[in-house]
Amino acid sequence: MARVQSSAVRDLLKYSKMPGMISLAGGIPAPDLFDTEGLHEALAAALAPDAAGAFQYGLTEGEAALREQIAQLLQQRGIEAAADGILVTSGSQQGLDLAARVLLNPGDTVLVERPSYLAALQAFALAEADIVSVPSDEQGIDVDWIEAYVSRHPVKAVYVVPNFGNPGGRTLSLARRQQLVRLAARTGTYLIEDDPYGELRLSGSPVASIQALAAGTPAQARTLYLSSFSKILSPGLRVGWMVLPPALFEQAALAKQAIDLHSCSLSQRLIGAYLAAGRLAPRLAVLRDAYRQRRDALVSALRRHLGTAIAFHEPEGGMFLWARFAPEVDAARVLKAARDAGVIFVPGAAFFAAAPEHNTLRLSYSTIDEARAEVGAIRLAKALRHAGGGMLHAAAD
Ligand SMILES: Cc1ncc(COP(=O)(O)O)c(C=O)c1O
Repeated sequence: MARVQSSAVRDLLKYSKMPGMISLAGGIPAPDLFDTEGLHEALAAALAPDAAGAFQYGLTEGEAALREQIAQLLQQRGIEAAADGILVTSGSQQGLDLAARVLLNPGDTVLVERPSYLAALQAFALAEADIVSVPSDEQGIDVDWIEAYVSRHPVKAVYVVPNFGNPGGRTLSLARRQQLVRLAARTGTYLIEDDPYGELRLSGSPVASIQALAAGTPAQARTLYLSSFSKILSPGLRVGWMVLPPALFEQAALAKQAIDLHSCSLSQRLIGAYLAAGRLAPRLAVLRDAYRQRRDALVSALRRHLGTAIAFHEPEGGMFLWARFAPEVDAARVLKAARDAGVIFVPGAAFFAAAPEHNTLRLSYSTIDEARAEVGAIRLAKALRHAGGGMLHAAAD
């Protein structure tokens, strides 16, 4: 436990509840975009044929019907996976825990991108892995760097969020995905592909998943794919899944048995009924439209009110905008002033496994509208002027 850091995001929650506060800190899906009507109907439909079954213990691997439906969903993502190679998990967070349990012995090295998803770092730290962070740029994690590292050190696994990662918001390029697949085939290094946001593409063209690229190659036996209904339907239902090579599937199911026996039967049946009603595709269209508007609102408000004092690349999807102030500005200090001004964000330092970059920050646009984006950016500019010692003027001039 001594290695596991508390989440800076959770620590910020109390401020987000303050009246009038504009929170760009949360990483949560927008509650106003939940398809509550569709979920209600799905709940009724899930209970109608066999209510007792929905309240009964279930199979560790997951409800058979849902695993078939997930296989179909994956086909639309270009991934051919048999239902019996899909393990239903309690959120993709459990997928990360299971991946760590089946792959990592204490002292094994796992490579993660800089910056990286915090709770993945926590899962790997609990497995007592050595977490090595890899530089990344706008194309995602630097695979040349990984090639050089792997040629000198044993590496058990590489963890990537290839689509609009949390917090980086970047898309891993096709060339680098292919390079990772070749590396796994050549060296036996495992690839953990975490893809909760792929369906939330807001602009640009989809890029093939690592799982799809590895199909039919020796890398297939080394590739784990994790995803979730959290960002596209409801995080509270706690249903995700993982696609595992056969050799790891049995082990992961065994570990899951010891952890929680199985994921919630009622949630799984509810989701099964929702998918059977054909509601996911139209809901995804609603989500993409809304998140695109919110992203565009935040991007233009930041450009208008902070100008060159903040640098970022527009994310092609997901919920996060990763930004940086000038190198000498400490985002944690700006946050203190920002709280007083009525806006919060997550300082980026928390997302680095080592050597944090203190001038970085994560801004989430999932729960804001145009008016709040505008006021949030004005308040952020004020906080930066206050804490950054006139940086804004210097940069804007
Ligand atoms: C990159 C990434 N992976 C996994 C998760 C876990 O999501 P869940 O367990 O709700 O599926 C999250 C949630 O924020 C995430 O951002």
